Amino acid sequence: MTNIYRCNICGEAYVGELKPSHCPFCGAHVHWLIDAKEYVEPEAPILTEMSRKNLEFTYNLEVNAAQIYHCIRKKTKDEFILGMFKAISKVELEHAELVGKLIDKDPGCEIPFKKELCTEDRKKSLDKTKILETNAINFYKKFLHEATEPRVKNIFQALVEIEQDHLDLVNANLSTEINN
Ligand SMILES: [Fe+2]
Ligand SMILES: [Fe+2]
Repeated sequence: MTNIYRCNICGEAYVGELKPSHCPFCGAHVHWLIDAKEYVEPEAPILTEMSRKNLEFTYNLEVNAAQIYHCIRKKTKDEFILGMFKAISKVELEHAELVGKLIDKDPGCEIPFKKELCTEDRKKSLDKTKILETNAINFYKKFLHEATEPRVKNIFQALVEIEQDHLDLVNANLSTEINN
């Protein structure tokens, strides 16, 4: 039977027979996904100064990552790298949108192609991504610890899990790079 699920992190709806292992939009793990009939839109939290600052920083980090990944996807001639960066640039844009809602910012739905942000080199792209994802994870763990608002804590918890998936993906492909 076809069902509708909603993501408790980004709020997007998914149509399918079974819950996907990850939100197809923001990458949140399955434990954040619920039956659409049970979904309640989270109230916008009143932010502490600390959380506002951390969310603004996160917004910029996500927009930057989305743009770099989009550049890699546009320049690569490797179909696998294209698929990977097409997916993760969209996920990072979704993160910018999600975080932006709490601080009245909107990245828009188009990621600009800034050709100076990347090269065609597969190894360099993966290395750069590894640095971006590692930094993001470290910042979001710190921000999770500093947040007192339950909604903000949930967002940073989910983001740590998702960026860790991206890092695992990069590491798996960097190891095949070495073996090649
Ligand atoms: Fe989501
Ligand atoms: Fe992200």
